[in-house]
Amino acid sequence: MCGIVGYKGHQQVSSVIVNGLRRLEYRGYDSAGVAIIENGHYVIKKCAGLVEDLEKLVNHSQLKGTVGIGHTRWATHGAPTNENAHPHLDYTGKIVLVHNGIIENYQTLKKKLAKNGVEFVSQTDTEVLACFIGSIYEKVQNFELAVRLALSEVEGTFGIAVLCLDEPDMMIAVRRGSPLVLGLGNNEFIIASDASAIVQHTRQVIYLNDNEMAVIDGDTYVTKTIYDQETDSEIQEVEFELEKIEKGGFDHFMLKEIYEQPETFHNAIRGRLLSAEGNVKLGGLGPVRDKIRAAKRIIITACGTSWHSALVGEYLIEQLAHIPVEVEYASEFRYRNPIIYPDDVLIGISQSGETADTLAALREAKQKGATILGIVNVVGSTIARETDAGVFIHAGPEIGVASTKAFTSQVGVLAMLAIYIGRMIHLSQREAKVIAQELEKIPQKIQQILDNADKIKEIALQYKDAQNFLYLGRGLNFPVALEGALKLKEISYIHAEGYPAAEMKHGPIALIDENLPVVFIATKDDIYDKIISNIEEVRARKGKVIAIATEGDTQILTLADHVIYIPETDSMLTPILAAIPLQLLSYYISVALDRNVDKPRNLAKSVTVE
Ligand code: G6P
Repeated sequence: MCGIVGYKGHQQVSSVIVNGLRRLEYRGYDSAGVAIIENGHYVIKKCAGLVEDLEKLVNHSQLKGTVGIGHTRWATHGAPTNENAHPHLDYTGKIVLVHNGIIENYQTLKKKLAKNGVEFVSQTDTEVLACFIGSIYEKVQNFELAVRLALSEVEGTFGIAVLCLDEPDMMIAVRRGSPLVLGLGNNEFIIASDASAIVQHTRQVIYLNDNEMAVIDGDTYVTKTIYDQETDSEIQEVEFELEKIEKGGFDHFMLKEIYEQPETFHNAIRGRLLSAEGNVKLGGLGPVRDKIRAAKRIIITACGTSWHSALVGEYLIEQLAHIPVEVEYASEFRYRNPIIYPDDVLIGISQSGETADTLAALREAKQKGATILGIVNVVGSTIARETDAGVFIHAGPEIGVASTKAFTSQVGVLAMLAIYIGRMIHLSQREAKVIAQELEKIPQKIQQILDNADKIKEIALQYKDAQNFLYLGRGLNFPVALEGALKLKEISYIHAEGYPAAEMKHGPIALIDENLPVVFIATKDDIYDKIISNIEEVRARKGKVIAIATEGDTQILTLADHVIYIPETDSMLTPILAAIPLQLLSYYISVALDRNVDKPRNLAKSVTVE
């Protein structure tokens, strides 16, 4: 949710910032802006639109300066307009800032400031914050103190980068709730919402903690709390390959990420599967092994696609480890005073490791004494740092807003976790061996599906003009139906619903007519016959059936209008394979409709506001 970049060094700041914003555009892309200090004045350029629109403005103006801040926005308060775009200048003209997060008490602060005659030009909470800092600065005439005093009265979440015209050599960045990373280069500093905007300049970084600020002054910097206590921040070396955040010959990041899945899945299981022993090695869980063994139940919390993989995890862990699992939307869980026992294990699943609701749910559980674990992609992210232990999925940067490779890797990690827990309790070595060996074959089976993408493209072209889609599955394939529907609506804007196939009779069946494509995940398992009956019910009402089926199943050919085969695997691992054709189907439909696949409207990759 919004990307921030700040730079102070020896390079021309405008291009550094625009390049950084381009890397962060997945976080929000409805407007963008930059403020730099040029010959003792601010030059601010901002516009509704993409970073590429900002770049045109910036190039046209030939900005010159070596200190500046920039922002790419996902609107919360105020529509995406030029006025509401960041950076925001305060009423004195001295303070300028960019912000990621929500200032919850902005109305109160705004009223107070308005009473003193302050006029606002935007509808944003951010402008209020800039003015609030400005009003304190007017009194104390000390930039750092003004920022600290203001933020100690602010409620809500923020990652900010702020400048003061009287202190052109100083840049302050502060975090509470929204991620901020400080890069330490060679006589240069770069601040950003994540390391992808920094690695081009340096790999030495400091991840700021909540209520921590970095004060850069001339060639030096200090980190401290907003209560003025110096902090001993650890400098870390980020591992990041730049080519991993480029498109590498693909038309879209999403397609590239779909095609990366044989490799990313392999990375998730590499070194962890002990197939011969019928076990797995999850080094990150070592410190909490006994707590996991003693757990009477496991709660998994997540949002979006990660929530769908959590639902698959529920089946896997209950099946293989016989521990009851509850899956919770993080946003619901955190606000209903959940009952948590000290021997509960709570797992947060998050690609970004920054989703505000997931983080808050984990914190709530931690406070109530539970052991909290993370299944996370981004190393160094807040969830990765705050959990007691965890497992990284190692999928590499996921840039396409619609999550693809993270889903399959998350499910892979959950399958390994289920084996890990199961083997501590009652899962036999023989059963574990079978699943572990199957997991090893998944990358090659994903490749087989990708090699047949043309067939999926043909189906996509045939149904691109449908107004609605229904996705149906049972058991482990029900979450896959949800994920398939989510992928389609996210990037094509076609209305799609995922439903448990048998529940169709209690409502969605009313939607079925000859215009409704119904996607069935109808793979061979012990409830195959039941799903066949559901297909018959759809056919009887003239719905168009697209079936994801197991290779070799000829019966389905007589029932479905279209069949997309996936290789046979253990039924518990089917969701990993079944997700791939659904990703491709939504991708090709969206391309055919000329949608912005990687940056669908209204969405953002990482939701760091509630
Ligand atoms: C956003 C993204 C989704 C993602 C969800 C959860 O809505 O658009 O693709 O699944 O956030 O994100 P997380 O990083 O916690 O997995």
